[in-house]
Amino acid sequence: MNQTSHVSEIARPRPSSNLAPGPKGLPFFGSVLPAWRDPLALMTTSRETYGDVVRFKFGPFDYYLVTDPDVVRHVLVDNAKAYTKSRNYLGLKIVLGEGLLTSEGEQWRRQRKLAQPAFHRSHLAGFADQMSRATRAMLDRWRAEDVGASRAFCVHEEMMRLTFRIVGLTLFSADVDGDARDVGRALDTALRWANDYAESLVRIPPYVPTPSNIRFKRAMKTLDGIVYRLIADRRAQAAANAGFGSDLLGMLMAVVEEGDGASGAGKGMTDRQLRDEIITMVLAGHETTANLLSWTFSLLAEHPEIEARVRDEATRVLGDRDPVLEDVRALEYTKLVIEEALRLYPPAWMFERQSVEADTLGGYSVKAGSIVGVCPYVIHRHPRYWDRPDAFDPERFRPERAEGRPRYAYLPFGGGARTCIGNHFAMMEAQIILAMIVRQERLALAPGHRVELDPLITLRPKHGVRVTRRPAGPTGGHFGFEAT
Ligand code: HEM
Repeated sequence: MNQTSHVSEIARPRPSSNLAPGPKGLPFFGSVLPAWRDPLALMTTSRETYGDVVRFKFGPFDYYLVTDPDVVRHVLVDNAKAYTKSRNYLGLKIVLGEGLLTSEGEQWRRQRKLAQPAFHRSHLAGFADQMSRATRAMLDRWRAEDVGASRAFCVHEEMMRLTFRIVGLTLFSADVDGDARDVGRALDTALRWANDYAESLVRIPPYVPTPSNIRFKRAMKTLDGIVYRLIADRRAQAAANAGFGSDLLGMLMAVVEEGDGASGAGKGMTDRQLRDEIITMVLAGHETTANLLSWTFSLLAEHPEIEARVRDEATRVLGDRDPVLEDVRALEYTKLVIEEALRLYPPAWMFERQSVEADTLGGYSVKAGSIVGVCPYVIHRHPRYWDRPDAFDPERFRPERAEGRPRYAYLPFGGGARTCIGNHFAMMEAQIILAMIVRQERLALAPGHRVELDPLITLRPKHGVRVTRRPAGPTGGHFGFEAT
């Protein structure tokens, strides 16, 4: 049983100062340097040293790290109207434009309403089939090309390619596998640029032709080219068949045609708006899930007994079949493993808000314009809510162990109105991919390979996850592998 106390620190009496404690850092720069060097260490040690509301100075900006679930709820839910996304999203906004992740207010509300039906339960069976088929194609290629048999390969690259293909198939009915390499490189360049832009105290606008800006522009051209091609292809198909289709792209495009051009709910989308929505879904919908799977494989490689349980479950539930929607619920242990991987390595390791008015967080005054950082990475390892926080223990997600744990002690998909629109999609995808791979293959970390954290916009494995592969056997049936 979890022996940790779930009582909020914030309920305890506060010292007389009304400003939250925190590191002083250097004059003017504050904590910029340690945040740039190792943000995870800075956030972790600051919570340990100063408590659940920590005040940093980043140049002229006040920044508050909040790690108490009640305070998190206050920011994301109870007083959400007092917060917008933070100025640190500006870099991302230059990449994604006004898509669902970065838009605000009425525009965001309208976009969310438009996109929501594409994730409705009625689409899940179709999604599960596509996820299953794409994973089968990858596994067949691994075998046909002997991937990882004689030489280590990067399973993270494979997961990026697979989840990218799945987003294309499920949300845009397009097979984008041929674009995976170009998009992967371009997104990497664009996101590193956005990250640097967010972290810079002095921001050089993207139109200034610095080497980094030139690389960024080139990457954006690649991404835009692919997205505008998707839009043009669908227009051509729609003209031929008189319909846009019922996937996300079709729904968004139908609005363009049916809209009356007036403001409000009937207003259509321009190609630029469509581009913003598509590129947002491509980014938000594949890199996060790929990171989750890569972390899960690295954890399983270190915990063969847990890997064996996932394999047993997959074999028992699926036999030799590939999964369909009805199987997902039965892959119970697989889900616990994924939940625990999301706890230890939350792909959205940090997200932020900016206060539009003064507020009080855990008894401390916060000025309007302050940035508030919600850090799932730190919250998920908070010893008040998690017993042996650094241990990989999927069983802690069994309902009896989770009892009494505050809702916002675990938030890999965020919370409140801006919670992840793809959370069920991502969980189902991860369950299907993990079960299929583990049933059939044993992935072992390549000798000498160390998996390191790279906390960019998402939490990535720095040098990928290099593994070797051998058949899991004995499976009998259509895999036909020898027992090992
Ligand atoms: C393991 C996978 C995923 C994780 C950990 C994750 C995490 C998150 C988090 C934490 C947020 C909230 C950010 C904030 O409040 O600032 C978010 C928002 C979002 N996610 Fe995900 N996500 C995942 C998968 C997906 C998938 C598969 C899709 C789409 C297919 C998706 C699309 C989005 C979008 C569009 C938003 C913005 C929602 C809004 O503001 O209305 N995500 N995600």
